[in-house]
Amino acid sequence: MLTAPAHRWRSSPHVIVVGNEKGGSGKTTIAMHIVVALMKVGQRVATIDLDSRQQTLTHYIESRRGWGRRSQGDLELPTHFCIARAESARMDENEAAEFAEFERAIAAMQDRHDFVVIDTPPHDSYLMRLAHSIADTLVTPLNDSFLDLDVLARLDPVTFDVIGISHYGELVRETRRHRRPVDGALIDWMVARNRVSLLGSHSNSVVSAGLDELASRLGFRVALGFHERQVYRNLFPRGLTALDELSETMPGIGAGALPARREVQALLEALKLPIDERGRRRAALRAEWFASHDSPLDTDDLLAGPSDEPATTK
Ligand SMILES: Nc1ncnc2c1ncn2[C@@H]1O[C@H](COP(=O)(O)OP(=O)(O)OP(=O)(O)O)[C@@H](O)[C@H]1O
Ligand SMILES: [Mg+2]
Repeated sequence: MLTAPAHRWRSSPHVIVVGNEKGGSGKTTIAMHIVVALMKVGQRVATIDLDSRQQTLTHYIESRRGWGRRSQGDLELPTHFCIARAESARMDENEAAEFAEFERAIAAMQDRHDFVVIDTPPHDSYLMRLAHSIADTLVTPLNDSFLDLDVLARLDPVTFDVIGISHYGELVRETRRHRRPVDGALIDWMVARNRVSLLGSHSNSVVSAGLDELASRLGFRVALGFHERQVYRNLFPRGLTALDELSETMPGIGAGALPARREVQALLEALKLPIDERGRRRAALRAEWFASHDSPLDTDDLLAGPSDEPATTK
């Protein structure tokens, strides 16, 4: 079990890890929405993609950069890192190389960012455990079905009582147990339901009851998260999220984005992240700056423009 790094990386930024060993549960979708939501309230955000095979978060951010250039729009970008899995024949060498690269990324963003959001792959790995060990907030998206609940716990087939904790549930429990003596911090664990049916159903309420029972056993909070909405599926190629201005570029989708935007904001509130006033002021200034973009700027405006120019490192 990994314990060492946490104390070294505690000062700042606040680390949000999005993790679940179940593939396709919505990690990257939720990670990207959290990232954009934070940037829109003026927070300086860095991102790390640990899923070096699929690199979906990396592609999402690259598309956002491309779309921003193309549409000359106001698209905020995080400082991005993608950490490759080392693939030599020796496991200890791989872990040492991955640790060094991870530490370099953290050092590069330290002190210049308020948050780092880490997207993880859908399988157990050294890097995935390393990320969990330094989380301040862990967000686990969970599709609304018993099959997905199985990644956290096994349930009695008749009563649906929790009869055992599954591999990922144990992994998080162990990580939290080892973390506490290192720096006294508690990882705040939020399970966010995803793809919740807009129609509602009996099975949903039973899954919900199982989740509540498990929440008290494992010590996580439950957020309603996101409903099943087409808008989450359609925005990826342009690097957009439900929080961006969509009506002009995507008329059909833009209209449906409002309820999605509300649920993203509700998730952000439920996470209770340390978002400070300075960030909100930065966001207001930035909006003002972009609003006056069409009018000629004088020298003072230019010198006082946004100073946090985003950069991407791969
Ligand atoms: N709330 C939602 N409504 C509709 N579609 C969704 C929603 N959330 C995610 N999806 C879709 O579900 C699929 C899986 O989502 P995503 O890639 O974010 O999951 P993931 O957990 O990161 O997957 P992986 O484990 O492969 O990395 C994608 O096609 C995504 O567009
Ligand atoms: Mg993913």
